[in-house]
This record gives sequence, structure tokens and C-alpha cells, in this order.
Amino acid sequence: MSRVLLTGATGYIGSHVAVELVNAGYDVIGVDNFSNSTPKVLDGIEKIIGKRIDFMEVDCTDYNAFEKVFEQYPDIEAAIHFAAYKAVGESVAEPLKYFKNNLRSFENLVELMVTKGKGANIVFSSSATVYGQPAMDELPIKEDLPFQPASSPYARTKQIAEGILEDCVRAYTNLNGTILRYFNPIGAHPSAHIGELPNGVPNNLVPFITQTAAGIRECLSVFGNDYNTPDGSCIRDYIYVVDLAKAHVKAVDKMLQEGIRWNVFNLGTGKGLSVLELVNAFIKATGVNLNYRIADRRPGDVEQYWADPAKANAELGWSADTPIEEVLLSAWKWQQKL
Ligand code: WQD
Repeated sequence: MSRVLLTGATGYIGSHVAVELVNAGYDVIGVDNFSNSTPKVLDGIEKIIGKRIDFMEVDCTDYNAFEKVFEQYPDIEAAIHFAAYKAVGESVAEPLKYFKNNLRSFENLVELMVTKGKGANIVFSSSATVYGQPAMDELPIKEDLPFQPASSPYARTKQIAEGILEDCVRAYTNLNGTILRYFNPIGAHPSAHIGELPNGVPNNLVPFITQTAAGIRECLSVFGNDYNTPDGSCIRDYIYVVDLAKAHVKAVDKMLQEGIRWNVFNLGTGKGLSVLELVNAFIKATGVNLNYRIADRRPGDVEQYWADPAKANAELGWSADTPIEEVLLSAWKWQQKL
């Protein structure tokens, strides 16, 4: 079976992709430095798939340590790069930390795949944040929408890394690249053995909702209800993390089976949901009465965006259609397990 390297394999998205790749018959070698996860995630993956994935504790910014993975596993044909810091606010306060970690780790991966990989197929975990705030007539977002100036150093690392991959695919004939731009991943594996593990106070909406429902947080603040949207709160495209993970398998399949050299896909449901709609969907799905209040806008928030997933639907034969209530229930089940 083909061997796929996952960097950031014990992270939120990486762990769910590890499960789906093994389910699809791939061999996985995971690497992580546990800077934003724990080794317990490997136990969770094992409980789901019934075996332990191959794993090496590696900081991908350390070229020599990372190179050892390719000596140990000379059969790597594809890699998916998740290893990156992703807290938008933190990136504004500490841009150098983000540029050094997110870019050096990716540069090392590209170099090692080109020079040491059995195959050099790279899937890059990007984000819809690369688009910035689209104009209303640019919604839903298609892959050819030009980038706006990055809204944060985090977003800029995604823009730069996409450019690194594009230039390297052009230059190195053995290298192929696929960019996956995620909208808002939420939820947890239905087994509740893996899920999102936010460090400290959650930045993201759904973990804050589930921690409030669990009594860990006093009250959810809805950051603004005076936006130019139907109910005044921000709109996003919330995609189930398991549906998102399955798109990664399809992307690897396509590269290995069809030798696709370059592709970019928006991964979303194609439906926009406001913060208040999501809060009400959570209350309806779980029956838990959620304590929330309307607060001031959060600086840097984009008002509204959602994906046009038609390209991924057509070319990957994939769609994210798990009902939002089921997705939110999976998040709640995971939170109760925690
Ligand atoms: C969603 C909406 C908030 C918390 C960011 C990154 C993106 C990706 C996901 C890394 C917004 C509102 C939130 C809260 C709230 N990052 N909100 N109260 O900002 O769309 O995307 O995280 O992978 O690249 O840009 O996600 O979940 O932080 O916010 O009202 O306590 O929920 O204002 O409108 P965001 P989010």
C-alpha cells in the first residue's frame, strides 16, 4: 500500500485524516512535536482503527531530525502538511514565531519530498483566510478569487506557503502539489476518541460553545450582532472535520492514481451559517440551554464568507453534507468525554 506522511499527525485535522487514510487502505507515517497536541491522540486513533499508526516525534523545523523520517521510511509517496501554528490573534502578537515555524517546517518538507521521497506528492493544508473579506458579489468563494492582503501573519504564512509549493512544482518535475483551502472545520469523530483539543481559552466558536455548555466557561460572547447580515452576526461555512478528512483521501487518491500535477480546492459545505444560527442549532440538537450574550465585535473578524465547493464536488467526487445538528452533537459528545 502507498505510504503517506502526515506532519502534525496528532493535531485536530491531522488525526482525523490519519483515521480516514487508514480506513482507505493507506499506510501512514505520522510526525508531530506535540507543541499543540498530546501523545494520547495516538491512543484515540488506535481505538478507532484497531492499530497504532507509525509515528516519530519530530520538529519539522529541524531538518536533520526530519530527514531521519525519510531514512526510516523510504517508501513515502505522498505527504499532507498540517504542522503549523494556527492562532490568528497570537500570530499578530508574535509574527516571527509564525513565520519561522510555519514556513521552515514546510520548506523542509518540500525539500525532503523532492530529494528523498519515493514519490513527491504534497497536499498542503491551507485556509479560506487567504482570501480576506470578499465583496458580496464574490460570494460564494471560488478558487480563482484573487487573494487580498493577508488579514494576519497566520493568513500570510498560508499565502506564502501556497506560493512556495506552486513555484517548486513548476521547478521540480517530480513534485506535484494540491492546495486544500479549509473553511471552518468543526466537530469530532463520532466515536469521541479524537476531537479538537484547544489549548487554554478557545479562540474558535464551537469549542467555546461546548465548554460553556459543559460549565467550564461562564458565558459565550457572541462577537457582534450589528453586522450587515440577516441576524447581525457573522456568517461562516462550518464543515464537519470528518467530511473534511475524507476530502484529503480523495486528493491523495487523485494525485497517486491520475498523476495530477497541480490543483486547488475550496473545502466547505457551500452553506453560510451565522453565529446565532449555529448557537440555536446547538441548543436544538443537544437540548442544552446555552448561556450567551451579545458582546462587541472581535477586531480582525471578517463579516461573512462561505465556499463554492463545486470544483471539489465535481473533481474529487466529494461533498460535505453531514447535517449541522449531527456535527454539533459530535462536538458535544467529545466535550462530555473530555
Ligand atoms: C467564527 C465566528 C467569531 C468565538 C479562524 C481562522 C481560520 C481557522 C479557523 C485555523 C466569528 C465568532 C468566535 C467566540 C464568537 N483557523 N465567535 N464568539 O475566525 O472564522 O476562523 O479560525 O485553522 O483560518 O481565520 O473562526 O471560530 O474563531 O470564529 O462570536 O467565542 O464565531 O466572531 O464570527 P474564524 P472562529
